[in-house]
Amino acid sequence: MSWDEAFADHYEEWSASMTADVAFYVELAREANGPLVELAIGNGRVAIPVAQATGQRVVGIDSSPAMLAQARARAAKAGVQLDLREGDMRDLALEEPAALIYCPFRALLHLPTWADRRRTFERVAASLRPEGRFAWNAFAFDHRIAARLDGQHQEKPVPHTIQYSVGDNRIDITLDGGGKSSLWPATKNEWLGLLDVAGLQVEALYGGFAHEPFADDSQEYVFVARRPRVTLLVSAARS
Ligand SMILES: C[S@@+](CC[C@H](N)C(=O)[O-])C[C@H]1O[C@@H](n2cnc3c(N)ncnc32)[C@H](O)[C@@H]1O
Repeated sequence: MSWDEAFADHYEEWSASMTADVAFYVELAREANGPLVELAIGNGRVAIPVAQATGQRVVGIDSSPAMLAQARARAAKAGVQLDLREGDMRDLALEEPAALIYCPFRALLHLPTWADRRRTFERVAASLRPEGRFAWNAFAFDHRIAARLDGQHQEKPVPHTIQYSVGDNRIDITLDGGGKSSLWPATKNEWLGLLDVAGLQVEALYGGFAHEPFADDSQEYVFVARRPRVTLLVSAARS
């Protein structure tokens, strides 16, 4: 399991420090002319402000019933409509192509293998309108930090221990109360390779949510990609 339901009980505390991303995704959503989709929507932390800012219903996909239940309750409290769907982002399929698909808070790192990510990127590409955007963020993995944290117990934001498996390029987070979630970090070239095989183009790579230029010491990849218009023209020409 790459995401344990035990994390749902502590998600508010776990995500409390991640706030800078909301305005970034809201801005992209405002610029989108068409359906909005969040992969791994979690408790709606980002989707609710997106729905509030755009007046649009956001489609949210997540494999965790516990997280979806939280999203449902929080959306009702906020008075917004989310179209919540239990499912795996690797199987993304929409009735209507999206103008924006986004995946905040490093959720793509829960996918264990290259094949899982390739499948997800291909599903995203197939689910976007021509010129539709795909945006996500993930940390730029620093093995020095991972090595320092390996085996360390930490009290905040929720008591947990981190384990770093070098061979599998995997970070395991085990809560004191039980429950383990894993992340498989990816390099910049892996992300670029995924875009390449999926036929998507990089529009921007930022080093932060305030559109900081990506630099050697950036700690976060903030990607915005686009489905090219030409894909449609090529397939139209073939048919
Ligand atoms: C760190 S949370 C991110 C939640 C939300 N996007 C946010 O920004 O707060 C990770 C989420 O990914 C979901 N998840 C993990 N693997 C998934 C998969 N293969 N398909 C769909 N959701 C998945 C988990 O259930 C969890 O809700």
